[in-house]
Amino acid sequence: MKPVIYVTRKIPEKVLKPYRSHFDVRMWEAADEPVPRDVLLKEIQDADGLLCLLTEQIDRELLEHGEKLKIVANMAVGFDNVDVAAAKERGVMVTNTPDVLTDTTADLTFALLMAAARRIVEASEYIKSNAWENWSPYLLAGADVHHKTIGIVGMGRIGQAVAKRAKGFDMHVMYHARSRKPDAEREIGAVYKAFDELLAESDFVVCLVPLTNQTADLFNREAFRKMKNSAVFVNVSRGGTVDEDALYDALTKGEIRAAGLDVFKGEPIGAEHPLVQLDNVAALPHIGSASEETRSKMLTLCLDNVTAVFNGEKPLTPVSTQ
Ligand code: GLV
Repeated sequence: MKPVIYVTRKIPEKVLKPYRSHFDVRMWEAADEPVPRDVLLKEIQDADGLLCLLTEQIDRELLEHGEKLKIVANMAVGFDNVDVAAAKERGVMVTNTPDVLTDTTADLTFALLMAAARRIVEASEYIKSNAWENWSPYLLAGADVHHKTIGIVGMGRIGQAVAKRAKGFDMHVMYHARSRKPDAEREIGAVYKAFDELLAESDFVVCLVPLTNQTADLFNREAFRKMKNSAVFVNVSRGGTVDEDALYDALTKGEIRAAGLDVFKGEPIGAEHPLVQLDNVAALPHIGSASEETRSKMLTLCLDNVTAVFNGEKPLTPVSTQ
């Protein structure tokens, strides 16, 4: 009997095909809609392995329903949606998808930084709404990026890849992280700063920390107050790292200049979200790693992790707390 793998979203057959002979694959057959919780609770009872997305909460209750479960392969580098401690107690392996998405996510981070600084989304909306009547010296004038100071909070793989891009723009790179990164200091010239110093000295503050109990609401009122009034804040981590009311106030009271946001609390959000209504916010629907190539690589890595576990091998990318 082949192990039963439950996949929580419809994924392309060309990605799945090479694995079909190893597994009995069951799948939620909608590409754009998450599996309802009651369906997942039922399906998990027969599953030996689970390939899930960040839209699913893999909590203790779900894990208890999955008595046969051996692996949860989360299709994301972040795994705040998985109760890793509960999984570990039950001997369930948890994997994520680092590395394959690093450059793609760094590209998007830099694109969002540029968009917020140079008002690209706002300018595009301006022309599409037929508002362009004259060229003027300060029409939609934004802030320069080149030769400015970027402060990266969370200097993991993606943070370091963003730092490399910043170097190409002749930026001065500062970072804050739980541990010093000697390689990044040597190779990119990144300068370590205490969190408060980084906030005070950066023209661009970029959040790339994983969401944990320690980083929840890290960017609060106090943090925004410490930033320069000209600062641009960029978040490509998780919405939970930001106190969104505090960010809204900082943006509307001129405590900071602009924000580029790929992530929000309580996703998905709609046009009525207060942050999305601001002209000085460039907002994206959590697409950091969303290139066609990278999304396929992420799915393949999940399936390779599942395959390794059922071959009695170590998974390729177990989550780092395990
Ligand atoms: C996406 O947000 C990821 O964590 O990969």
